[in-house]
Amino acid sequence: MTHTIAVLPGDGIGHEIVEQAQRVLGALGLDLTMEQAPVGGTAYDLHGHPLPEATLALAKRSQAILFGAVGGWNYDSLPREHRPEQAILGLRKNLGLFANLRPAILYPQLANASSLKPEIVSGLDILIIRELTGDIYFGQPRGMRVVQEGQFKGEQEGFDTMRYAESEVRRIARIGFEAAQKRSKKLCSVDKANVLETSQFWRDIVIDVSKDYPDVQLSHMYIDNAAMQLVRAPKEFDVIVTGNIFGDILSDEAAMLTGSIGMLPSASLNASNQGLYEPSHGSAPDIAGKNMANPLATILSAAMMLRYSLNEASAAARVEDAVKAVLEQGLRTADIYEAGTTKVSTSQMGDAVLKALN
Ligand code: IPM
Ligand code: MG
Repeated sequence: MTHTIAVLPGDGIGHEIVEQAQRVLGALGLDLTMEQAPVGGTAYDLHGHPLPEATLALAKRSQAILFGAVGGWNYDSLPREHRPEQAILGLRKNLGLFANLRPAILYPQLANASSLKPEIVSGLDILIIRELTGDIYFGQPRGMRVVQEGQFKGEQEGFDTMRYAESEVRRIARIGFEAAQKRSKKLCSVDKANVLETSQFWRDIVIDVSKDYPDVQLSHMYIDNAAMQLVRAPKEFDVIVTGNIFGDILSDEAAMLTGSIGMLPSASLNASNQGLYEPSHGSAPDIAGKNMANPLATILSAAMMLRYSLNEASAAARVEDAVKAVLEQGLRTADIYEAGTTKVSTSQMGDAVLKALN
């Protein structure tokens, strides 16, 4: 069966890094079709919208989406609905990509890249599972209004709504428990149940779902404490499950623990395992077009795609092994370069991964 992949490179370094991932996918001897479409600022420039109809339609009919990155300085002053970020939010919402998996792995070869002491981070391998289509990101109502009563009466205010429906919490909790079952059987649910109704509800539902997974040891942590424990003793975590906004923040923090956000992939899945795969890093407009960016996060995202959406686990393992091999060979893009290693460009890194595949 032919696997269909929508390729949405986006802005900034998006094109350079996605190109390397496409080369890797194309070299695996699989039956794949890859169709490309504009997204983000690039799409806004071409079609006046960051997520044009045709791009959304392509994404919807594909099994998986290989996404680069969106955003750039020249788009920062656009009205919100035209900003590049709306493309990724629109894809998540329209495709129902509610489960975001963000592994944070410290590769032994890159142990010095972390800003934390090696003994605190060496061997780090955690998985953050972030709910991606609910919470304050999408809750209604939201907007601006004039305050009608109380202390701020007559003033303008901005407001958003934090909310979760029971089924939304149940389905992401299940993803968390199932991931924990395949790993160390420890799941930490992160919330702010001491203050927020939404979080108390989240916690109650997660506890209820836990009855179906008696082999998994469930713990709960408040978001502020989790942010602290993640830098104090990150290896005490294994799988973390949390809501959209807390997961946004914690996953950036976890990425930084590894010191190499240029290495970290991510997957966003819906109920039928259709998925969007993207590097955890952004569009890095400052180095765009310079053939300097690290393509490994995107290549590893392609590996996640093979595993989760295309059911090609052995091809996924081949790609991951090839990435480990190039690190072992001492090849480094500028972001992870250190004395004694060999600095390579984006395309040279792609060449090396292709070579290591064979
Ligand atoms: C992420 C990003 C997005 C988010 C932005 C670009 C809308 O920060 O994927 O974590 O907030 O979810
Ligand atoms: Mg983020």
